[in-house]
Amino acid sequence: KSKFTVSSFLKAKASNEKITMLTAYDYSMAKIVDGAGIDAILVGDSLGMVVQGYESTLEVTMDDMVYHCKAVSRGTETALIVGDMPFLSYHISDEEAVRNAGRLIQEGKAHAVKLEGGVDVVDKVRAIVKAQIPVMGHIGLTPQSVNVFGGFKVQGKDKAQAMAVIEDAVALEKAGAFAIVLEGIPEKLAKLITENVSIPTIGIGAGRYCDGQVLVIHDLLGMYSGQSPKFSKGYAALNETIKTAIENYVSEVKELKFPEEKHTFTIDDKIIAELSK
Ligand code: KIV
Ligand code: NA
Repeated sequence: KSKFTVSSFLKAKASNEKITMLTAYDYSMAKIVDGAGIDAILVGDSLGMVVQGYESTLEVTMDDMVYHCKAVSRGTETALIVGDMPFLSYHISDEEAVRNAGRLIQEGKAHAVKLEGGVDVVDKVRAIVKAQIPVMGHIGLTPQSVNVFGGFKVQGKDKAQAMAVIEDAVALEKAGAFAIVLEGIPEKLAKLITENVSIPTIGIGAGRYCDGQVLVIHDLLGMYSGQSPKFSKGYAALNETIKTAIENYVSEVKELKFPEEKHTFTIDDKIIAELSK
């Protein structure tokens, strides 16, 4: 597979080829995800919940994101790496937004950044794009807005909210974003947006008509112990698989079945004889 780039995103939309994106947060998982042929890897601030164990993404810092981007980049060959901008890393000023986006590229070795919001953040998007950093937008149920929404609630169900989501999409396109994540919005609203912007839409809980899909890897693999959202699909039940493997390990150690001779290293018996004198 050849490297997936920002222009591959636009080509995929033009040729009606669905774009596949998954999160990854470390080297080993990135290697598997990349090896499986995924188009783009998102180092999502969802790591605050699935890796760090917080109740929201709000605690995640720039240093956390840089650390995880570095690990993922070392395991990735062909996928485009998108580094998520954490809460407060792009809200304060254009300067801070550019500097923080730049860290994800320069230190984290990401190829692009993602940030949440539409109309409210277009100045930041413009500033980052001006610094030659591709920006992916993210609108709808934006998890960093959880306190404003009063929970993780589907957005855009009434006319005013739906219009606001459409305005956000159009504003991001105008500001130079190369793609937009649509999260937690009605399928028909996502379809309308997808048909009316020139840049690809990547859906999560946004139905079947987006130009691509993204999932949190822990949800896909069934290895998140919290509540996975309705819109995710478990393609495996790794929590169970992992638990069974660990239980087998524990009982084999207790029952002296592990380790076996084949797991051991040898030393000349003469040396042992001398040592035990
Ligand atoms: O952080 C994340 O994983 C995300 C995706 C759910 C889009 O932003
Ligand atoms: Na995110």
